[in-house]
Amino acid sequence: MIIKRCENYEQMSLTAADIVKRQVAAKPDCVLGLPTGSSPLGMYEHLIKLYNRGELDFSSVMTFNLDEYIGLDTDHPQSYHQFMEDTFFQQVNLKPGNTHMPKPDETDNLSGCQNYERKIFNAGGIDLQILGIGRNGHIGFNEPGTSFSSQTHVVQLHDETRRANARFFDSKDEVPKAAVTMGIKTIMRARTILLLCSGESKQEALIQLVCSTVDETFPASVLQLHPDVTVLTDKSACVILENKYPFKENELFI
Ligand code: GLP
Repeated sequence: MIIKRCENYEQMSLTAADIVKRQVAAKPDCVLGLPTGSSPLGMYEHLIKLYNRGELDFSSVMTFNLDEYIGLDTDHPQSYHQFMEDTFFQQVNLKPGNTHMPKPDETDNLSGCQNYERKIFNAGGIDLQILGIGRNGHIGFNEPGTSFSSQTHVVQLHDETRRANARFFDSKDEVPKAAVTMGIKTIMRARTILLLCSGESKQEALIQLVCSTVDETFPASVLQLHPDVTVLTDKSACVILENKYPFKENELFI
């Protein structure tokens, strides 16, 4: 695992966009796994700028999103579907048929989730999976306790996660209680993983991600077992970590 300490959120976002740019340049028909949340917003802005400057072409890229709420219409302003349309999809030349969001089939959850796994498999697997991280270590919506062998599945959201996400809704009561998410195994199958972790509120999550025991009580700890993970952080997220492990030229290899 490589941890790169960026000056601030803006630098982290620029660096993330550059990593995506290099991935697309190396493999124009690559498969990207995409997150929602506040962490990747700056990265999406920079990707759009690169596209507008003619430095990035998404015409052959395929995307699979990590997760989606259950119970919100796809055009609900807080659905991840709408978030992705507004924040990214509609502003670059991704082909609509090449973007995918997990959708449980309301009448048969299992087949909707299995179908998503099948689509990822048929696309050749995810080349670059981008992740945020929840304060309780969730990745996607894989809450503490999720099995490391999980594939795309339906989850009940923890209260802490609903509280954290209430900032996007009028109140916590409006935050859906369930979601569909890629599983831990789905994420671990990606060839390369890029995790974005910024801000003071993620200090504890960052230290646990890097050095806690690998177990299901802190889902992101599983990434310690992946052979190709880059964690991009900013200075405010690193305060606790850098006391324990001194960075060398803003990098730490663990
Ligand atoms: C949400 C999403 C995750 C995201 C996490 C962190 O619950 N389902 O995919 O990584 O929260 O979000 P943020 O980047 O806003 O801190």
